[in-house]
Amino acid sequence: MKELWVEKYRPNTIDGYVFVDNAQREQVQQWIRDGSIPHLMLSGGAGTGKTTLAKMLINELGVDEYDVMYANGSKEARKVEWVDKLINFCQTMPFGAFKIVLIDEADYMNPNSVQPALRNLMEDYSQTVRFILTCNYPNKVIPPLHSRCQGFHITKNDHTEFTARAATVLVTEGVEFDLDVLDTYVKATYPDLRKCLNLLQPNSQTGRLLAPSSADKSARDWRLDCVDLFKHGRVREARALLCQSAGPDETEEIFRWMYDNLELFGKTVEQQDQAIVIIRDGIAKIPLVADQEINLSATLIELSQIS
Ligand SMILES: Nc1ncnc2c1ncn2[C@@H]1O[C@H](COP(=O)(O)OP(=O)(O)O)[C@@H](O)[C@H]1O
Ligand SMILES: [Mg+2]
Repeated sequence: MKELWVEKYRPNTIDGYVFVDNAQREQVQQWIRDGSIPHLMLSGGAGTGKTTLAKMLINELGVDEYDVMYANGSKEARKVEWVDKLINFCQTMPFGAFKIVLIDEADYMNPNSVQPALRNLMEDYSQTVRFILTCNYPNKVIPPLHSRCQGFHITKNDHTEFTARAATVLVTEGVEFDLDVLDTYVKATYPDLRKCLNLLQPNSQTGRLLAPSSADKSARDWRLDCVDLFKHGRVREARALLCQSAGPDETEEIFRWMYDNLELFGKTVEQQDQAIVIIRDGIAKIPLVADQEINLSATLIELSQIS
């Protein structure tokens, strides 16, 4: 079976990693130079590189594989029984300078049992064990854990670097592509690089990146078609498609996506500022309207009237 690009191109050194900005890059470089990290809380949206950053750090710090414990907060580490295993791991001496406990999706750990149990462990073993927690929703992690970790929030990766990363993968795979076609994929998925690579791969099998409309239906995301329509000024059709494809509980996510892709609604800064205000008004109305489709539709009409 062919390897998934998301795994094949998960950078394990700092070079291939796309940072939000220079400040974050420098922070990570500093940890690598120091050869150590504080307890970390990596937060941010799906596919923005939290797990990748954690694994890259473990690799760059040269931590012995026996000194690393991986767990997932939505799986084994959800239940309190797992804590015994964790204590056992913390109690034994590390092979190298320190051990690392990487808990992915830590926001799913039980906030009444597992999360409070971590509190003491983080302090008792801080000399020899460092924790890296990743989460999509930092507000689901109890405050005592936040106060024991240094926060590292991945907002949105740089748009240009995001595009460059996707382009690098295509070039490395020997796939030919038009920049405009790639841009459509980027706009539909930004800032989720995982989703972007997962959409590019099946649409590149002929050795040429296919435009969304000629690609295999099953591998397609309606957002792609939507971006395509917007880009060609077919706003009415884009609106219809968006409203018909978005599930009722997806509304907030759609607004967020629109906010992440302001270029769709105007080229100038002023137009994009106007778009933000319209999107904000639309979000504010979500709890007030009975029919989310009407609200979304009305917001899109206002967005298309930006001049
Ligand atoms: N900042 C990034 N730099 C480079 N590749 C990334 C980045 N973010 C995501 N990716 C790509 O997307 C895939 C999924 O990223 P991952 O770190 O698992 O996301 P999550 O934030 O959901 O943990 C990775 O395997 C990698 O190929
Ligand atoms: Mg992850």
